Amino acid sequence: MLVSAVAPLVVAHVSDLHPTGVARFRPADLVTKRGLGWLSLVLVRRRRHRFDRLARVMDDLHRDPPDHLVVGGDMVNLGVPEEFAASRELLGRSGLPPERISAVPGNHDRYTSDAYRRKLFEVYFGAFARSVAPFPDDLFPFLQSRPGLTVIGLCSGWPASPIQARGTLGARQLERLAELLRHPAARPPLLVAIHHPPIPYEDPLRQWLNGLHDGRALLEILAGTGAVILHGHRHLSLHWEVETPRGPLRILGVPSASDRGGGSPRTAGYHRYRFGPDGFAGGERRIWNPVRGAFDIRELPAAERVRLEDLR
Ligand SMILES: [Fe+2]
Ligand SMILES: [Fe+2]
Repeated sequence: MLVSAVAPLVVAHVSDLHPTGVARFRPADLVTKRGLGWLSLVLVRRRRHRFDRLARVMDDLHRDPPDHLVVGGDMVNLGVPEEFAASRELLGRSGLPPERISAVPGNHDRYTSDAYRRKLFEVYFGAFARSVAPFPDDLFPFLQSRPGLTVIGLCSGWPASPIQARGTLGARQLERLAELLRHPAARPPLLVAIHHPPIPYEDPLRQWLNGLHDGRALLEILAGTGAVILHGHRHLSLHWEVETPRGPLRILGVPSASDRGGGSPRTAGYHRYRFGPDGFAGGERRIWNPVRGAFDIRELPAAERVRLEDLR
């Protein structure tokens, strides 16, 4: 008797959109953190991050739609409304309906306390952060039950000093995460979307400036769930398998979707993962090749194995 094979579920992972050429300069920005942000945008980011690369990623998602899309934050550079609007419009170009997209904020989405107070991420991307078990005062953490998949979304981006891009989850969000993991809708396979990587940078100063300050606490709570954790922020394809006393956790980081990169590991692209009856079943990187005018398909990096007890 022939047994029909069930097609694996495909999850696309896009992050760090950083759209350039859309923010309007306001003289008042010079006296806020955005003053330095403008300098970085004009001197570095405008050359590095190309808006046309974002369009290529969205067109590829439209041409070859995944079952679900996870967007890992840094939708903007300076946290101004026109950048949020541009990224929101780009996601629409993928043709995917809101219930097939999950999105979490990055440090740039909470660039200033003004962007945080006005809840600009929530205004533009709240449709992708709806929860089956919402909390009355915050969109995060959220729990989404999708066909064949559960997505938990966390917020690690908060307004920080001008020199910091660090992330924090905070005790309250971690407590709420533990609560969501006990919810009947939290069935495997479980995807956890977060902007900052839970694995610390090797250099303690870089970790203090840019890292997730409570990453180990997050991994301790997730131990035993078999979760696959998807992050952005480092603008690189990264892959870890964390050994915990209650089974492994997989962590995958994706490059920025707009970095011109020039063939370096930072070159713009995105990941696609497959999930079968036994959970994670591999995936691929799609990296933009400007010479061919098409995406090259490459393997994911091999997983680096680390032990939870060895992490800071
Ligand atoms: Fe970023
Ligand atoms: Fe970031």
